[in-house]
Amino acid sequence: MNRTAVQIRLLSAVLLALAGNAAWAQAPIVIKFSHVVAPDTPKGRAAERFKLLAEQMTRGRVKVQVYPNSQLYKDREELEALQLGAVQMLAPSLAKFSPLGVKEFEAFDLPYIFPSKQALYAVTEGRIGRGLLRKLESKGITGLAYWDNGFKVMSANKPLLAPPDFRGLRMRIQASRVLEAQMRSLGAQPLALAFSETTPALRDGVVEGTENTPSNMFTQRMHESQKHLTVSNHGYLGYAVIVNKKFWDGLPGGIRKTLEKAMMEATAYEKTIAQRTNDAALEAIRRAGTITIHTLSPQQQAEWRRAMQSVYTQMEARIGKDVVQAIRREVDKSGK
Ligand code: LMR
Repeated sequence: MNRTAVQIRLLSAVLLALAGNAAWAQAPIVIKFSHVVAPDTPKGRAAERFKLLAEQMTRGRVKVQVYPNSQLYKDREELEALQLGAVQMLAPSLAKFSPLGVKEFEAFDLPYIFPSKQALYAVTEGRIGRGLLRKLESKGITGLAYWDNGFKVMSANKPLLAPPDFRGLRMRIQASRVLEAQMRSLGAQPLALAFSETTPALRDGVVEGTENTPSNMFTQRMHESQKHLTVSNHGYLGYAVIVNKKFWDGLPGGIRKTLEKAMMEATAYEKTIAQRTNDAALEAIRRAGTITIHTLSPQQQAEWRRAMQSVYTQMEARIGKDVVQAIRREVDKSGK
């Protein structure tokens, strides 16, 4: 081969390599974000907002694919999928972290532990919230943020106004021991079911009642199989947004920083829409006219509280007395 031919060959090899690199540089980083609720819920809307921000802010280097409504995985499966790297991002409810071996998150399920959203934020946005997210690191998971849903209502086919009304009722719960103890404290029979199984179970009478936020109830049409709903605000439902740690740590530093910023903005947005979305959902349930809505008087609420008090003593050892006490101190300090 003469010199020119060698030079041409070399040049084309270099050009090919450059083209290959350019193609590689253009290939977007894909984040699969799986969740179990409907798109028109606080979590669903915030996931879409994160997608928008992440894609805009990284100028398309990152593509976020959001899979709502348990399309990819149900509750427990999605945690396994995250650990295996089949998806990169989730936002499970705080009630669902114990299969990872971090039972402390069940503190958020304790009845009446947060008197207000301000008291809740004092915990999630402070030292305790950060400390809990750090506990996930050893499980191969990085916690990015807390997202809000709201305070729960109770529903059944009979009015639920006083603790004895729950006696013997089969109630669907999320898979949390604290929620199990809460239902037992009322004399009900708790049954832990995946979120996607709840509406069919209510329709078929496998369970007779449930607790959830109005936005979850309305978007899954749970209210259509229930005759009575009590606005009890007895417990909280919120989320931790989590990513596969290996994936996250392996991102180019600049991209990770940009995604953190996108997450911060999506989180701020989420907090502004959570209450509004739940208020609108309760109103939509009311307008649907298929269910009677009850509100507890202060006296009735005091009875519920008294009935559920035993959950604290039963569950303290499981959650960790120090965590429960620290949360209580923070709530008191917040003065709300
Ligand atoms: C439930 O299972 O009821 C909730 O955790 C669903 C959700 O993600 O809000």
